[in-house]
Amino acid sequence: MKHKIYVIAGVDKNFGIGKNNDLPWHFSKDMEFFKKTTIKTQDPKKKNMLVMGSTTWESIPKKYRPFKDRENAVLAWDPDYKAEGAKVFGSIDEALDSAGDDIEKIFFIGGGMVYRESVKHPKLTGIYLTHIDREYDCDTFFPEIPEKFNKKEKIGEEHEKGIKLEFLLYTI
Ligand SMILES: NC(=O)c1ccc[n+]([C@@H]2O[C@H](COP(=O)([O-])OP(=O)(O)OC[C@H]3O[C@@H](n4cnc5c(N)ncnc54)[C@H](OP(=O)(O)O)[C@@H]3O)[C@@H](O)[C@H]2O)c1
Repeated sequence: MKHKIYVIAGVDKNFGIGKNNDLPWHFSKDMEFFKKTTIKTQDPKKKNMLVMGSTTWESIPKKYRPFKDRENAVLAWDPDYKAEGAKVFGSIDEALDSAGDDIEKIFFIGGGMVYRESVKHPKLTGIYLTHIDREYDCDTFFPEIPEKFNKKEKIGEEHEKGIKLEFLLYTI
């Protein structure tokens, strides 16, 4: 396999991930974890690639997109869809196939529709989940984690606004 491929998401106690095309919460410590995890490469000459749905892309404030120091890929069925600073692909496999030797890892960063398809992808290496120990009003949810991802490693824990955040990596 050419690249390691991960899903990365923050979920509440009910696996909620979003509300009204936005995140239901703001935790700077989770943002830092996301940034560090998705930027870090073993080879300093390589970059990681982030793959997201058009709805998630549009939900990111313009000043923060494209995500810096990473390749940004946006999925849209409309072949004329434009995302400034990102490449647009019509399918998950098209995005994966575009990654050349300059890319080290690939992260699916949301939202719900993209998570539903990517957790089932046969080449997926692992799933990073930040478990937020609260319930939020959500209209978008993370899918069931496939059974084969039965190794669960706790890679960190933080507290912010009195709420526990647990960082877990699920692998095969
Ligand atoms: N908690 C978290 O970690 C997290 C992370 C990211 C996002 N979110 C939240 O998730 C919500 C958005 O999720 P969502 O499910 O509504 O939308 P989404 O997955 O971000 O985007 C859906 C759109 O992406 C395109 N798309 C999806 N799969 C595709 C495929 N296989 N091939 C081609 N295009 C594809 C389509 O775009 P077109 O319709 O334009 O063709 C589709 O309408 C927001 O509330 C956001 O804040 C949460």
